[in-house]
Amino acid sequence: MTPTRETFGNIPLSSQLAFYALAAVAVGIFCWGVWRRWKLWQIGQPIGFRELITGNLLAVWKNFRPGAQRVALDAGAQQRVRGHGLGTVAHLSLYVGFMALFAGTTLLELDNILSHLSEAFKFHRGLYYVVYEYTLDYLGLAFLAGTLFFCWRRFRKPAALGHRASDWYVLLSFLAIGVTGYLVEALRILWSQPTGITAHCSPVGLWLAGQLGSYTVSEARSAHFAVWWIHAFLAFGFFASIPFTRLFHFVAGPMNIFLAQPGLGSLVPVTMEEVEKTERVGVNDIRHFSIQQLLSLDACMECGRCEEVCPATASGKPLSPKRVVQDLKGLMEETATGLAAGKKEFRALHEDTIKAETLWSCTACSACVNTCPVRIDQLGLIISMRRHLVAEGGLSGTAATALRRMQSNANPWGLPPAERANWLDGLATKS
Ligand code: HEM
Ligand code: SF4
Ligand code: SF4
Repeated sequence: MTPTRETFGNIPLSSQLAFYALAAVAVGIFCWGVWRRWKLWQIGQPIGFRELITGNLLAVWKNFRPGAQRVALDAGAQQRVRGHGLGTVAHLSLYVGFMALFAGTTLLELDNILSHLSEAFKFHRGLYYVVYEYTLDYLGLAFLAGTLFFCWRRFRKPAALGHRASDWYVLLSFLAIGVTGYLVEALRILWSQPTGITAHCSPVGLWLAGQLGSYTVSEARSAHFAVWWIHAFLAFGFFASIPFTRLFHFVAGPMNIFLAQPGLGSLVPVTMEEVEKTERVGVNDIRHFSIQQLLSLDACMECGRCEEVCPATASGKPLSPKRVVQDLKGLMEETATGLAAGKKEFRALHEDTIKAETLWSCTACSACVNTCPVRIDQLGLIISMRRHLVAEGGLSGTAATALRRMQSNANPWGLPPAERANWLDGLATKS
């Protein structure tokens, strides 16, 4: 007999219709959530996105190619997630498992639609079916293993990691989705009683079916129906909640990777044209950041990697690049909500949100920028704000003295040019 199974086996038509209605609601909530975040970013300065999509197809592709390559490597192949020990292994495991389950469910739905058109179009059978079931059964374990690691890490509460109550919702719902997925498979095996390779190509489900004890076919059918619904509710709940939890990095991360500057950490000079046009130097208000910079704040999943490599944080200075990103994100939300409610006065960016001593603590070493998995440019944010302080005459202390000496003596120590070669005195050099 050709190995295969019914897609909605044991699920009556009314439940199938309710399933699709619920799927539409989940997609609707997801889109609404993304749109709400999108509206927040719009308070920033335009980034000329239209220029990216003008011209013929070749021109558009030329504009898109660098960003698309970055997304493929950094997000798709998880290139920038690497180099963080067990955290990296766990994320790769969870990510590969999740993407495989997602692709598998999409293929299953495609097969369902095609087989409704004609039985001849059904491809979910034979060797394809065996490979599909086998692969997804094992990658489901990878998804669960990654999730279990992140649960263990949250129990330990490492200081560099951000903590919110919704993190537990995400991780526990992943665990529940994985476990109920296997239960649905085991109960299906119990009522449909497959034999040979059709049963053995689902090794985890088959093993679990053996552990569940003796069920009559009708008991297995009822339990299968109930757990199938629980599984569906959990999956839709998870999908709808993506824009409202830390999982939003899965959406905003690739978007920021696509739009980010290619040369991270390189400082963009301020031009006179820009100053004349904007009548300011640097950033004095959250709305002065670009739309891309505001979107980047939403891509942060508070992994703490930037904080771990920051020399200012390590030496006890009042600066954490992760905190700067999170504080700006808070101000963006507050300002955008206030604007929508017709408010005119907002919490100030400087001092009320980001202290001058925080900005002066940055050594501009770029370590944070180079380590961020989603290409957030923390240094660019800090320098933009610091430029405003300099323009306002806020530079004081040793930094101000060094700059004055650079201007008058071309060196930060204020030594006269005539003494420049003094260090050669006493050395065995030939004139
Ligand atoms: C789009 C590309 C993605 C990138 C660049 C990315 C990056 C990251 C990074 C760097 C972390 C922190 C891990 C660590 O510090 O060790 C993380 C955490 C996490 N990511 Fe992703 N991720 C991506 C996609 C996904 C996807 C598709 C999922 C699953 C739906 C996912 C789920 C998670 C979870 C559950 C955590 C752990 C959160 C916690 O600690 O509670 N990520 N991600
Ligand atoms: S800014 Fe980047 S490196 Fe820092 S916590 Fe956020 S995602 Fe992680
Ligand atoms: S650039 Fe500034 S914030 Fe980033 S790691 Fe270096 S000192 Fe820290």
